[in-house]
This record gives sequence, C-alpha cells and structure tokens, in this order.
Amino acid sequence: MKQKGRCLKECPDLLTPEEIKLGLRTKIFGQQLQCYKTIDSTNEEAKRVALAGAGEGMVIIAERQERGKGRLGREWHSPPELGLWFSLVLRPQIKPAHVSQLTFVSAVAVCKALRKLTDFPVLLKWPNDLLCMDKKICGILTELSAEADRINYLVIGIGLNVNQEEQDFPPVIKDTAISLAMVTGHLWQRAEILCHILYEFEKEYLSYLSKGFSQTLLQWRELNITLGKEVIVSTKEETYTGIAEDINEHGCLLVRKNTGEVVTLWAGDVSLKPKAF
Ligand code: BTN
Repeated sequence: MKQKGRCLKECPDLLTPEEIKLGLRTKIFGQQLQCYKTIDSTNEEAKRVALAGAGEGMVIIAERQERGKGRLGREWHSPPELGLWFSLVLRPQIKPAHVSQLTFVSAVAVCKALRKLTDFPVLLKWPNDLLCMDKKICGILTELSAEADRINYLVIGIGLNVNQEEQDFPPVIKDTAISLAMVTGHLWQRAEILCHILYEFEKEYLSYLSKGFSQTLLQWRELNITLGKEVIVSTKEETYTGIAEDINEHGCLLVRKNTGEVVTLWAGDVSLKPKAF
C-alpha cells in the first residue's frame, strides 16, 4: 500500500516555516514564507506584503482564514488544521491582458502535483476548479495589481481540501466538495503536499515564461473535464445550457448555445450538466 504523504502519529501535521523548509525543492517559491495561525485571507495578506515590496516567490499560508475568499465574491470555508490555504506573490513581466493565463498555469501545476501524490484522476473544470470523483477538491483565486501596460504584482490563492471528512464541510457544499483524505482513505501531511505543489508550480511557471501559453493549454486540455460536455452557464445577465466546444488562446471558454450561437466566456459560473439516466 502506498505510504506517500501518510500522516503518522509520531509526526504531527505542522504548518511551520521550519517544517515546510525541510521538504522544499524550489529556488523561488516558498524561499520566503510567512505562516499564520489565523488571518483574514492569505490573498489579502499577500496583496499587503506585495504592496510593501515583497518579492516574487513569497508564500503566505494560514491554518485558518476568517474571511477566505472564493471566485465571484463567494466565501471560501477555511477551517483550521484541515486544509491548505495559501497564496503566492508573482511579478511576471507579461501583459496585464495575459494574466488569466497564470490561473491555467496554476491549475495545471496543482493538478499534476496531486496526480503524482495520489495516482487519482484529478481533473480540471474551466476555468480553475480541480475535481476528484466529480466533486471540488481545490479552487484557485487570482488577483492582480497592474498599470495600463504592466503588472505590479499578482497574487495566486490556492485552497485545497486535505484532511476533511464529509461532516467537516458546511451543509451548502457538503454534496459538492471532497478532500484528499476522503479520496485516498487516509490523512495527509499538509507541509509535504505544499512542497510538492510549490515544486510543480515553479516548474510550470518557468516553463510558461520561457515557452509561452500554448504548452500550458495543451496540458490543460489533457487534464480537463469540461470540453465536449454539456454545461450550464450562469452570468450576471442570464443562465443557459450549451456545449463547451473549445478554449481559445486567452483561456476563454467557447460555448455553443442550443440556438447555435457560440459565446466566448471570459468569466462566469460554469457547471457540468448532470447526465440523465
Ligand atoms: C474558488 O474556487 O472560488 C477559489 C477559492 C480560492 C481559495 C483560496 S484559500 C487561499 C486563498 N485565500 C483566499 O481568501 N482565497 C484563496
């Protein structure tokens, strides 16, 4: 039986800089690290330290977030000791218009890290949800500070459900959320998972900077569960169903409505339509 990441009694699941640095194999990400017991949101703290001059690679991590943020203004449930709630500071020299590409880089990196750790088919749902057994295991929130033509800094926030049991999730997400422990049947050392994610992230990020977005997209396509599926799209204006036909070079989802019209989606809520039996 696989023992990777197994949480042993004699080895407590600590999220301290010392514990994390023991397993770190990166040159940039996590070399500067701030760990908090409680914080409002690691994304908010990452933005504060970035504004104060923190360099690329800074990682902010918290045991518990009091105001964890999700996409589309949603709340992100972040209880202590059960998940990995962390944010990365980036300062890429790319056009602000290309910033959403980094969400895809992040999703591919976390997906690859989780697949290597667990051998489970973790899949990507557009734009940046990670699903396992059709339930959400991880979400990514990218925030940006930019001028018209250059990025000041970028914060990538990652929320990964690690050691929750079903009853640890609030009722509203209980049926749609899952954790690594629920998938694999055992508890995990969060510091070890974090080090794997930072390693894969650094690899994907450097490769994106040197080779461009097309190779990220290729991998996203291989790991995704959205393309070719019937989806329900909710925007501020309307809700409709259609087929998720493709993704373009900006990462926009192209959805063919039942009317035949093809819509280019930059953002929005997309859910996979359950199969009829
Ligand atoms: C989503 O799927 O809606 C995105 C969720 C992102 C959650 C993470 S947890 C760490 C970081 N800090 C936050 O407040 N949000 C992100």
